[in-house]
Amino acid sequence: MPKLTVDGREIEVAPGTTVLQAALSVGIEIPHYCWHPGLSVSGNCRMCLVEIEKVPKLQIACATEASDGMVVRTGTERVLGARAAMMEFFLIHHPLDCPICDQAGECRLQEYAVEHGAGRSRYVEAKLRSNKAVDIGPHVLLDQERCIRCSRCVRFCDEVTKTSELAFFRRGESTRIGIHPGRPLANPYSGNVVDLCPVGALTLKEFRFQTRVWFLKNTPTVCAACARGCNVLVAVGQQQAMMTTSGQLDDRIKRIVPRPNDEVNGHWICDEGRLSYERLSSAPRLLSAEAPAGSPAEWSEAVARAAATLRDAASAGKLGAILSPRLVCEDLFAWKRLLEGLGGARIGVRRLLRGEDDAILVRADRGANSRGAAWILGEDAEESDLLRAVGRGEIDTLLVVGDPLDPGDAPALDAALRARLSRVAFVGPFAAGAAAGADVLLPTAAWAEEDGTYVNFQGRVQRVRRCHRPRGGGRPGWRVALDLGEAAGIADPGWTSPDDVLRALAEAVPELGGLDAGALGLLGAKRGGP
Ligand code: FES
Repeated sequence: MPKLTVDGREIEVAPGTTVLQAALSVGIEIPHYCWHPGLSVSGNCRMCLVEIEKVPKLQIACATEASDGMVVRTGTERVLGARAAMMEFFLIHHPLDCPICDQAGECRLQEYAVEHGAGRSRYVEAKLRSNKAVDIGPHVLLDQERCIRCSRCVRFCDEVTKTSELAFFRRGESTRIGIHPGRPLANPYSGNVVDLCPVGALTLKEFRFQTRVWFLKNTPTVCAACARGCNVLVAVGQQQAMMTTSGQLDDRIKRIVPRPNDEVNGHWICDEGRLSYERLSSAPRLLSAEAPAGSPAEWSEAVARAAATLRDAASAGKLGAILSPRLVCEDLFAWKRLLEGLGGARIGVRRLLRGEDDAILVRADRGANSRGAAWILGEDAEESDLLRAVGRGEIDTLLVVGDPLDPGDAPALDAALRARLSRVAFVGPFAAGAAAGADVLLPTAAWAEEDGTYVNFQGRVQRVRRCHRPRGGGRPGWRVALDLGEAAGIADPGWTSPDDVLRALAEAVPELGGLDAGALGLLGAKRGGP
């Protein structure tokens, strides 16, 4: 294992490690633009120049392999002078439009100009002008004046999606990033080029001008769009709504960006997951209890009515329950416990299969917690079997627990089947789909509104986090199940938090044995086979 010294610190690294990686691994920051851990090394920005003993010229740290005995200095006068010169080059034609740029506040050009720039420009000629707000795809806009030609976006399309929509055009100082005629940046991972762009050249249409980034509160959580369970940061607005008299915080989700996890999603997410939050705000929400649908009811009254309905059906052996594979493990376990406490019910988990697995991240199974549901409820808990039992008249009362992300994934019951049911109780965050025509409805928290755990298709258990308050009267599903259990006379398990439920889960479900919330950390823990 080679040992090198960076700024006086001895570092032992694996063979093949670059000087930049070695320095970053011990917290020594070397400024860089074009290098990215998920892409090939291009070495074209020259921002990472360092001095290496016995080497006459400055070297780029991102493309220099660490070797035994190497002595590297990152803060000498020559290095600082080279960095300042590079910053001066980057800014010569830059429009300096930070006040109206979405990247402001998280822009490497801003940060490095402050940390490494000379603070002035000697360039007095007119700046080159180029195209602004170029529409290059369904989600991405390009500002050619802000681009520093680091080529990260080009390499992403060449190496990750292998779609090669982006390329350099022209030569010299006129070099520009662009798309080939008639070939928009329309691959299903296009939003990643916005995250990769270290400046404000590529912006996401859906986030553009929505807020300043310093008003965002970022919560690390897990995407619910498919069984991959990509690690993400959900950014919620915290800006006081200045134009209203209510003084309410604008705490809607403003964007979702990837959070690196080499075991799950690397550095990327798909556009479907990135924009999944739009379904949360566009779908009609169930904001309070109703009994029946359309008639607001007190929580306690609706709970009592639902509990009596479920208990009567369970004691007659005619109760069924449809659960979403996007419910967190804690909710699934609480519903299972409730149904067993009532006397038993046939449980069916919805299957959310669409298309095929792709070669990057997307899984055909859109159930973010399908694996967790199988561990908790059994592999054979199928919605289709349950619905057949309804059709045969074996079940006359149904509890439907709606989808926490997309009401389209909890569709209305088939009219012929609905006619065979005497009662339907609906629990969920959306007033749509299966909620229509229910006899009693209870609102729950949606995805990003409650804490819990998901198990992805690989058997990795990961923490899902509450990112903002639930809308209306929505409560976490496990709490609603407890309320119903109390109204039905089932013994109180004493849970007061999702961590309590997880502890009970870890005792009851072998695959989750010994698990506790603290052990999951930010990257989760692998528990099952492939
Ligand atoms: Fe090394 Fe760009 S980061 S040359």
